[in-house]
Parts: sequence; C-alpha cells; structure tokens
Amino acid sequence: MPSMVESQQPNGNISFKHNRNNNNKPNFFAGRQKILEHRKSLPIASVERRLVEVVQENDVLIIVGETGSGKTTQIPQYLFDSGFCHDGKTIGVTQPRRVAAVTVAKRVAEECGVELGQKVGYSIRFEDVTSSSTRIKYMTDGLLLREALLDPYLSRYSVIVVDEAHERTVHTDVLLGLLKRVQNVRSNHIKNQTSVGHKRASNGAILEKENADPCIGVLKQCQGRNLSPLKLIIMSASLDAHVFSKYFGGAKAVRVLGRQFPVDVFYTVNPQTDYLDSAIVTIFQIHSEEAPGDILVFLTGQEEIESVEKQIHENLQRLPEDKRNMKTVTIFSSLPSEQQMRVFAPAPAGFRKVILATNIAETSVTIPGIKYVVDPGVVKARSYDPVKGMESLIIVPTSKAQAIQRSGRAGREGPGKCFRLYPESEFEKLEDSTKPEIKRCNLSNVILQLKALGVDDIFGFDFIEKPSRTAIKKSLEELLLLGALTDEFKLSDPVGRQMARLPLDPVHSKALILASQFKCLDEMLIAVAMLSVESIFYEPREKLDEARTAKKCFASSEGDHLTLINVYRTSIELLEKRKSEVGKDKAEKVMRKWCKENFINSRSLRHARDIHSQIRRLVEQIGLCISSCGDDTLQFRRCLAAAFFLNAALKQPDGTYRALASGEVVQIHPTSVLFRTKADCIIFNEFVKTTNKYIRNITIIDGLWLTELAPHYYAKQE
Ligand code: CDP
Ligand code: MG
Repeated sequence: MPSMVESQQPNGNISFKHNRNNNNKPNFFAGRQKILEHRKSLPIASVERRLVEVVQENDVLIIVGETGSGKTTQIPQYLFDSGFCHDGKTIGVTQPRRVAAVTVAKRVAEECGVELGQKVGYSIRFEDVTSSSTRIKYMTDGLLLREALLDPYLSRYSVIVVDEAHERTVHTDVLLGLLKRVQNVRSNHIKNQTSVGHKRASNGAILEKENADPCIGVLKQCQGRNLSPLKLIIMSASLDAHVFSKYFGGAKAVRVLGRQFPVDVFYTVNPQTDYLDSAIVTIFQIHSEEAPGDILVFLTGQEEIESVEKQIHENLQRLPEDKRNMKTVTIFSSLPSEQQMRVFAPAPAGFRKVILATNIAETSVTIPGIKYVVDPGVVKARSYDPVKGMESLIIVPTSKAQAIQRSGRAGREGPGKCFRLYPESEFEKLEDSTKPEIKRCNLSNVILQLKALGVDDIFGFDFIEKPSRTAIKKSLEELLLLGALTDEFKLSDPVGRQMARLPLDPVHSKALILASQFKCLDEMLIAVAMLSVESIFYEPREKLDEARTAKKCFASSEGDHLTLINVYRTSIELLEKRKSEVGKDKAEKVMRKWCKENFINSRSLRHARDIHSQIRRLVEQIGLCISSCGDDTLQFRRCLAAAFFLNAALKQPDGTYRALASGEVVQIHPTSVLFRTKADCIIFNEFVKTTNKYIRNITIIDGLWLTELAPHYYAKQE
C-alpha cells in the first residue's frame, strides 16, 4: 500500500494462506456433516459442559467472549439440549439489531436441521417467524420490551439471554432494568410459595413481607400464577463485564477464549477529506496488490453502502476483464430478510468478496472469510440535546474499542490486515469506549413503555446507568404535551395506552390516532411508513439533475409528506396492475425497473410497503377508523400540524427558519421539495446536523393552526 497507507509494523511480513473450498456442490449429508464439524471446531464447543453447569449454578451469569467464538449460535442450543425447555418453556435471546436476530435464527435453524419458525424462530418489529413449538427464539431487545406489555413476567421464558450487551443500546439498558425486576418477582414468588412461615390469604397471595418489596404492585398481580425462576445470561464482546456484574449484585462472570490471529494495522499517512472515496481507493488497492481474501468495509448507513456499491461496480467496468473478479454484498439493518443471508455465501471461485456493512459487522454478525478490513473510523450515532429537545443522527468518530473490534474481524481465520482511513495520531484522540445510548437519545419512547409496564417513578427506576434528570424531564414533558400522560404523569386512557401499543415513535403514534379523527388515516399510514425507512429518493452525485427532474413528477407543492404519499400510491397502483397482467414475480421486477428510472430506492420502498401493512393491521386492532381525505389535503396538513406541533418552524427575514420549540435556527434540507420555496410556517420530521443544521421532510402549514390545534402549547405564546 505505498501511496496512502503505511504499516504500523513496517517490517510485518506475513505469509497468507487462504483455503477456499467452495467448488463442491453441497449434498444434504455432506452439508450436515460440515455443520457438525463447524460446530465442534468453535472455541466455545470445548467448554459446553462447564458452561451449562455455571448456568445451572447461577441465576445471573455474564459471559464475555470474543466475537466469532460461538456464543450467539451455540449457547442457546447447549441450553436446549440440557433440558432448559423441558416444560415447554422458551429460551429467549435478544439482539440490538434486527438483521442479527434474523440471520442468527436462520443459521441456528439450519444447524438444528429444522424449519425456521418451528423449534428455532425469530421475532422482530413487524415480522414474527415463531410458532407454539418455538423453543429458541431470537428477537430484538426492543421486541422483548414490547412482549413484557402483554406478559409482564415474561412467563413463557425459562432463560433470557441478553446478547451484545456491550453495545449498550437504549433498549438493552431498559431491558436489563426490567429483567432485574422480573427476575426478583419470579424468584420471590417461588420463595414465598415454598416457605412455610408466611401467612397466606385464601387466594394464595402472600400478605406479609410484601410491603417491603419494591415490586409490590407486580407481585400482587402474580397471584395464582405458576411462575418458575428466570435465568439471566448477559453476553458481551467487551472485557468490562464488571459493570453488568455490579448491577446484578456481583453476578458471576466467565470468559470464553476465542481464536484470534495477528492483524496488521495500517493508517493513512495524511488525513482523508472524503472517507468514501478513500474507502473505494483502498478496496481497489487491496484487490490489485494483496493476496486472496475477502474485504469487510465499515460504512455508516444504507445510503452510503448503496452509493459505494454503485461506485465499485462502475470502477470494475473500467478494469480489464481479468481484474473484474470482485463481488459486492451488503448488510445493514433494514436490508430485506431474503437478501440478508447473501452476505454469508462465499464468493464464486476466484472472486474476491467485498462486504459493505454498517457497524452491525463489528460484533453482531460474524461473516466467514474476511482477511482485510477497511475502517473509515466513523459511525452513525444518535445525539440528543435535552435542553432543546432535539435528537439527531450524526456521523461521529468511532471509539478505540470499536476500532479494535473492527480490526479484529480480519483475524478470525488467519492473519489479516486492517486499513484505518485516518492517521495514527487520530487514533490516540478517540474515546476509549462508546457512551451508552441512553445518555444521548430522546427518552419519550422508553418512558412511554415503562409507564405502560406500570413503572410510574421513572426517576427512581433502577437503570444500569441513569439518564440525566433534564433528559427524563424533557421527555415526560413531551409525552404530557402529546396527551400520552395525565397531569399526574400517569399513562392516559385511551390515548397513552393506544400510543404504547404502537411500535413507533410516540409522535408518529399520536399522528395516527389524530388522523383517525381528522379522517385522513389512510394518508397518515402511508406517511408514517415512508418516514420509517431510510431515503426513498436516490440522488447520485453524478446524475443529480436527472434525479431531481424525476422527483418533480411526484412533487407536491404542499410538501414532502404528500410527495411521499404520491410515490407510494403511484407505485402500488403500478404494482397491482402489473401483478394482474404478468404475475407477482415479474411485477416485482417491473417495479425495480420503474424505481430505477425514477431514482427511487426500491429496497426502501418495499420495506415501507411491509411496514405499512403491519401498522395498518395494528391500528385496526386498536380500533382506529381508516378513511381517506381524498383531495382534501388541507385536512391532512392540519392533522400534521396537530401532531407535529413541537416540530414547527417559522421563516425569518433572512430566509432561514426558527424551530419554535427549541429556538434553533435551521435550514430546509436541499432534498426537500420545499427547498427553494419559502413558506412562512412549516412542520418538519427530522433534524439533521452536518456542518449545517437542516430540517427534512417538511410540509407547509398555516401558523394560525398551531394556536387552534395545540392551544395547550401555543396559546400562551405569541
Ligand atoms: O456470538 P459469537 O460472536 O461468539 O459467534 P456466533 O455468532 O455464534 O458465530 C459462530 C460461528 O458461526 C462463526 O464462525 C460464524 O462465522 C458462523 N456463522 C455463520 O456461518 N453463519 C451465520 N449466519 C452465523 C454464524
Ligand atoms: Mg454474537
């Protein structure tokens, strides 16, 4: 790597050996044999018996193990085999990310030789692939929190494994707090049932001791239930297990040793101005100069991944035929499930696989065959200003721990190389580890859920790490303003309850509830589905004009929400028409072509369609009335104003906007259809902080509507 990257160990001379054995057509028995051998070869296999014993001996166990050692795929199987599901109970395994839950479940079903959704299944928001016979269930941590709303003691589970706990997502943190409570209740319940010294009420409830129990409310509801103790396993890829151990009263922690080959780390000589360009250059440098082996590239999101993928394909076309032996695969959270497993398939013989991934490939999914890692050193993270109440996704430098995890991916099967796209001096400046998400996000969603679970005292809740008082207060205030809480900060009925049942941002849930009253729920369902996916419109740098012209066909002069609705409806109409003419599969193909011609991201659009059908079902379940406002878009915009009044902005004399709730001065994002028009008053959905402060997904409203529709907030103000 002469021009750009320089070795940290200049004399590091490594010989590469890479065995690819993918010419054999697999037959069933060979396949099973291979899987068995693979399972036996994992580092964790040698400690199976001991692991099961420590789980039996400890109610809470922390397992630390290197990525790829087999924790996620093997431990649930070991527990199943040693009888943890004997009485029809389930082993639940939570993941911070949807893709991890899905791909791991598929893999484990394959290892067990069962159909997915039977013994092994998964459940993520908007997708449930389980059945009454499911005993090993992978799911997102957010989903398990939702399940607790219906089953507060998680009584169907004998073991819950909280995987990837080191990621410290906000859902993981809240889940840990909840599980601590549930475990207490369940073991107290058993203790009380078996001990003799207590006075029992005629219905079997425990009367004494209860008053001292912080879970008194929950315990009362336990009456008559047949609850067994709950085993908790916290799994983490990082070494600081003591945080979890301390939180669970000094719980036992064990370490599973992995296999790690040396990885040579390279840094760029100079700082890079455009990390996407540098990543592409580095990929091709590796391809032309380095020995065979797959490349893993860390990018920040779907948009970046898709644009880099496109650029790689274009660059490949310019290479001589014999140098085009490169294949790209992608992995990110919202990738449709049928495409997710492609990342694990080996590239055709003689080809180099380039995996374009988000930080999901850091520890959540282990992809075999990687020998080179390209790490631009950035990650997309949530950031929250609790005073202004503004949350945004921003691209920030990774932590040292993340950089080390990333480089480790290159040394799983043999020595590898990692190319960090920044100078070595920058590494020293990185934070040691990432700040837990609960400290940098809007909390209204989790507070709403905790309230729905009966946790009224949010300030007193036993968080593993407490969010700031300001952040809690701000979110409580927001929920109050949305009508989800009463003046006593209790969950309101029906609005708060209905909002808690919808797996959406509270303000989106509120928009749906209001839309049923404004008789435009049909429109709002589409708007919410389209806002739930990343970038519907695709604007490649080199074809910007073409893309913007295409977008004009759908543009509504009233704003982005109606524009998105136009795209959705036009596409559905076309899809239905083609389906009746040429059948489902061909129709999907026609759709992809149509999307391409119109610079629409077909993956995102399909995802939006799935989300739409799921939330439609949910709003029907909670009894909302679905009707369309037809051409009366005024009604729809008034509804947007009523729901998103906290996201209203007024034009200022200099053409910028002032967000009313936060006082922040913002600009309309160039991708908005309202970019050049200068409406006086608008509502927006997203706040984006890059070098500028932008707002995105915008609709024009009338300023007077705010005092009319949100008088509790605006009446007192000017
Ligand atoms: O959880 P941990 O990082 O310890 O490892 P794992 O996810 O259980 O993965 C163990 C092994 O299974 C790795 O060698 C992966 O490459 C392999 N695996 C796979 O081939 N396909 C999957 N879908 C998941 C895992
Ligand atoms: Mg894992």
